[in-house]
Amino acid sequence: MTSPREVSVRMCPGGPLLVRGAETILDAEGVSHPVTRPVVAVCACDKSSRKPWCDGTHKVVRRG
Ligand code: FES
Repeated sequence: MTSPREVSVRMCPGGPLLVRGAETILDAEGVSHPVTRPVVAVCACDKSSRKPWCDGTHKVVRRG
């Protein structure tokens, strides 16, 4: 039996969620996206063209 992985999430003010240790990310439609890196940036502004991943668009759009 394997031990559970530790997953942590850090909120970046005005930016993405930094997720460490996840195996998959489920998007808003329930689609599973495999994680292939130790840390991934998940879009929290809903403006990325690469959702669920942050593409940096949050830097040029303002939250309402
Ligand atoms: S949080 Fe970076 S593009 Fe949405």
